[in-house]
Amino acid sequence: MRRKITVIGAGNVGATAAQEIARRDYADVVLVDIIEGLPQGKALDMNEAGPVLGYEAKIVGTNGYAEAAGSDVVVITSGKPRSPGMSRDDLVTTNQAIVRAVTEQAVAASPGAIVVVVTNPLDAMCHVARDASGFPKERVFGMAGILDTARFRTFIAWETGMSDRDVQTLVLGGHGDQMVPVVSATTVGGVPLTDLVPEERIAQMVERTRKGGGEVVNLLGTSAWYAPGAAIAQMVDSIVLDQKRVLPCTAYLEGEYGIDGLYMGVPVVLGAGGVEQIVELELAESERAELERSAGAVREVVAVLAG
Ligand code: NAI
Repeated sequence: MRRKITVIGAGNVGATAAQEIARRDYADVVLVDIIEGLPQGKALDMNEAGPVLGYEAKIVGTNGYAEAAGSDVVVITSGKPRSPGMSRDDLVTTNQAIVRAVTEQAVAASPGAIVVVVTNPLDAMCHVARDASGFPKERVFGMAGILDTARFRTFIAWETGMSDRDVQTLVLGGHGDQMVPVVSATTVGGVPLTDLVPEERIAQMVERTRKGGGEVVNLLGTSAWYAPGAAIAQMVDSIVLDQKRVLPCTAYLEGEYGIDGLYMGVPVVLGAGGVEQIVELELAESERAELERSAGAVREVVAVLAG
C-alpha cells in the first residue's frame, strides 16, 4: 500500500507542498480545506499534471477527514497568513483556534501519524498542536528552520558568487525577527564565511534573513509559498524515507541549549520516528545570548495562548 500524507489547508503553502510531495511519487496525498471546492479543484488539477510531470501519486481533495484516515504524516498549514505590516505573532489568537480544531480531527483519523506544523506563529502553534494531539514530542514539530536557512544560503550564494548547494549553515531559534543565523557554523565549500565576506556584509545578510519573510510579504501582500512548500517536502522526505537528515526543525526542548519546556528551531535528526535526536552545537557566546533572547520572544507569544 502506498504511504499517505495529509496536508491541511489548500491555500498557497498547503497546495504547493502537496504538489511537491506528489512529485516525489512515494505517497498519495490528501488535501483538506474548509472552503468547498477548493481542495477538490486543486487536487483534480494536480492529478491532471501527473501524466505530464510523470507521477502516479493520487491526490484527493476533501472538506472532511474520512479520506485522511491512516495518514503517515499530517502537515498543518491551515490558518491566516500575514499581510504587510503584520508580525507573525499578530496571528496567534485566530490561528490557535484553527490549529487546535484541525489537529483534533486529524489525529482522531490518524492516531499513528507524525504531525508537521507550518501555521504561524509557528513556535506557539507547535505548542497548540502538541497539546491538542496528546502525541509525544517526537511526533509533533514544526517547519521553519529549513526555510530560514534556505534564505540565508541564497543570500550567501549571491554575495560570494558560489553555488547555494555548497553553502552550509544553520538558522536557529524562534521563527520570528529574533531568529539566530549561526555565522560561526557557516561555510562555503568548507571555507568559513568569515574568511570570504567582510563582517559588515555578513551583518547585512543576517538582518535580511531575519526579515526574509517580511520582505516577501511586502512584495506579495501575503506570505511566501514556493520555498515553504519545498521545505515541507524535504521534511516529509526525511520522515517517510527514514533518511535521518540533520535539518533545522522546531522541536520541543527539555534542557537542550539551556532551554526548557519550549518549542524552538534547532538541528534535529529527522527519520521514521520523527525527531529522533536533537543535535547540540557549540555556539559563540554572542549567538547563545541571541538564542536566549529569541526564546524570550517565543515565550511571550506562548503566554498569549488561551488555555
Ligand atoms: P492561505 O490563506 O493561502 O491558505 C490557508 C488555507 O487554510 C485557506 O485555504 C483556508 O481556507 C484554510 N483553512 C482555514 N481554516 C481552516 C480549517 N479550520 N480547516 C481547514 N482549512 C482551513 O495561507 P498560506 O499562505 O497558505 O499560509 C498558511 C499558513 O502558513 C499561515 O499561517 C502562514 O503564516 C504560514 N506560513 C508559515 C511558514 C513557516 O515557515 N512556518 C512559511 C509561510 C507561511
